[in-house]
Amino acid sequence: MSIFKASNYAADLIEKAVTGYDLSPADIVRLLSISGKDTKTLLAAADSIRKQYVGDEVYLRGIIEFSNFCERNCLYCGLRIGNPKLQRYRMMEDEIIGTAKQVKERQVPTVVLQSGEDSFFTTTIICRIIQRIREETGLIITLSIGERSYEDFQAFKKAGADRYLLKHETASTELFQQMRPGCKLESRVQCLRWLKGLGWETGTGNMVGLPGQTRETLAADLLFMKQLDADMLGIGPFIAHPDTPLANSANGDIELTIKMLALARIITRDTNIPATTALGTLDAGGRLKALQAGANVVMPDFTPFKYKTLYDIYPGRTDVGSPAEIIAKLKNYLASIGRTIIFGSGYRPGKTINSPTNI
Ligand code: 5AD
Ligand code: SF4
Repeated sequence: MSIFKASNYAADLIEKAVTGYDLSPADIVRLLSISGKDTKTLLAAADSIRKQYVGDEVYLRGIIEFSNFCERNCLYCGLRIGNPKLQRYRMMEDEIIGTAKQVKERQVPTVVLQSGEDSFFTTTIICRIIQRIREETGLIITLSIGERSYEDFQAFKKAGADRYLLKHETASTELFQQMRPGCKLESRVQCLRWLKGLGWETGTGNMVGLPGQTRETLAADLLFMKQLDADMLGIGPFIAHPDTPLANSANGDIELTIKMLALARIITRDTNIPATTALGTLDAGGRLKALQAGANVVMPDFTPFKYKTLYDIYPGRTDVGSPAEIIAKLKNYLASIGRTIIFGSGYRPGKTINSPTNI
């Protein structure tokens, strides 16, 4: 087959996908291998679907990383329990509420409470924090605190949180088990199904470039996101952390990550997809590229400065400046690509809050 024909084949496939054809795993593998002009076509297709389904506005979510303690030992992550070099911190309740108030002051309507898997924060404590944030700020609350029981998810929802982020990380059972010793993909997927069933706006996602990952695995990641009917998708490159067993592995490829993001947009249509911090870490223009290839969300970090650098999942991730400065910079950034910030709640279009689905 000539290169010319191969190129036409990819463009035809992209066009079919845009008009609603369900891409097969083999189609996705093929599209993950394209380059040059075809990649441009893919990213432009994702950009137009983003515009059609979720508009030109970019939604903000304010993150608070309230504890870097973690009881897990994921091979890729600097917060793993087996990293003795990391100085650990926990923000106390009043400090978390105070930071949430700063999110509110900046008119960002959603706060994301993120931590390692830290059982210090019991169900009761988390529920109390949720209730206080609801009462004292009215912010929409997203939790990103790892795997929990069905009863916990019920209790957190009852307390007033309604979005949950739990990346599946990789859809390969073997790779998952290898990367996350003692954990099972099956249990994580069970948590995600519980969350969907309880009516949470549910986020999942993966890392691109994990050692041992293949294009077939990446295709399975995308099809899993679609099958779960996830509402939010976090897709970022793997970044090697020096104090982990993967210190000498290569970082994830930016272009491959952007292609994954574009395909996620084309396949899932109206989901909320952030331009991840990890993309901005590996490539100064990475987040802008993502926003022009399907992404529609940015998550400024509100974690107090003294803790920020200690939330060391991967190296080099700190956004410099105060939240106000970060948002001002973002505004300019976005203006340069004809996009604007919207200070709206940003639920997934067509989904209403508190509507349990059966999955
Ligand atoms: N590179 C990129 N992303 C990482 N995460 C953890 N470690 C890394 C790394 N080395 C991401 C995972 C996880 C979240 C806490 O951060 O996707 O969900
Ligand atoms: Fe803990 Fe999450 Fe890091 Fe794994 S990826 S070590 S669960 S913070």
